[in-house]
Amino acid sequence: MSRVALVTGGSRGIGAAISTALKDAGYSVAATYAGNDEAAAKFTESTGIKTYKWDVADYDASKAGIANVEADLGPIEVVVANAGITRDAPFHKMTPEQWHQVINTNLTGVFNTIHPIWPGMRERKFGRVVVISSINGQKGQFAQVNYAATKAGDLGIIKSLAQEGARAGITANAICPGYIATDMVMAVPEKVRESIIAQIPAGRLGEPEDIARAVLFLASDDASFINGSTITANGAQYIT
Ligand code: CAA
Repeated sequence: MSRVALVTGGSRGIGAAISTALKDAGYSVAATYAGNDEAAAKFTESTGIKTYKWDVADYDASKAGIANVEADLGPIEVVVANAGITRDAPFHKMTPEQWHQVINTNLTGVFNTIHPIWPGMRERKFGRVVVISSINGQKGQFAQVNYAATKAGDLGIIKSLAQEGARAGITANAICPGYIATDMVMAVPEKVRESIIAQIPAGRLGEPEDIARAVLFLASDDASFINGSTITANGAQYIT
């Protein structure tokens, strides 16, 4: 029987590459999305991966959605908390709304995604938790006090979960992508984006597949002793 994997924000960008790589490796994959029905329908049509719509910022919606996925596919053994948004603004212009939107989706959303799945992983004595953090959680970023706080918070989450899950056969790890060629990065003003690319020793943006391959490794049996780690994938832009 193939393992069941859930990828939040799994129908676009990095999440779509992760969902596809897991499916190609033989997993039964469920991909969630929040709002873009058209992109989700296209994704399902081209990949055969079923999509589920809920807002990760809403605990009850997450719990109900996860119950639906498990009824369809079976117990979730691999969870990739990938869904995230930006609401960039210099701090003196950042509104409480921009702060809360990003905290609710990117940080509380990680809690809401893992929490309903965790008891089953503990009972079955197997689980793989992968959280998609960011280079900007490691180094901070101009205009991203909100986003950087959530992405640094992800690292606290996985380091704590790793200690709690280790004896139950569960690993929890993070990946910190650098700047990857997705809609999120393409939304950065072109001049700013050019200046960012100039800071990447690899001389290019990363590809979503660069991140998907790291997820595949962390999800595999080969990675059972890698727990609480952060994999940095940023073309040497920031070395921790
Ligand atoms: N470093 C230093 N200065 C910067 C800067 C940076 N990275 N980005 C902008 N600035 C400067 C501008 O040059 C400008 O300076 P001047 O006033 O001297 O001209 C000033 O900051 C911007 O001031 P504004 O009041 O005009 O700013 P704004 O309210 O219009 O906001 C912005 C503009 C939202 C900051 C926009 O520049 C922006 O989006 N910057 C990019 C932020 C970024 O890198 N986000 C990452 C998104 S990708 C992602 O998050 C994925 C991931 O995980 C890697």
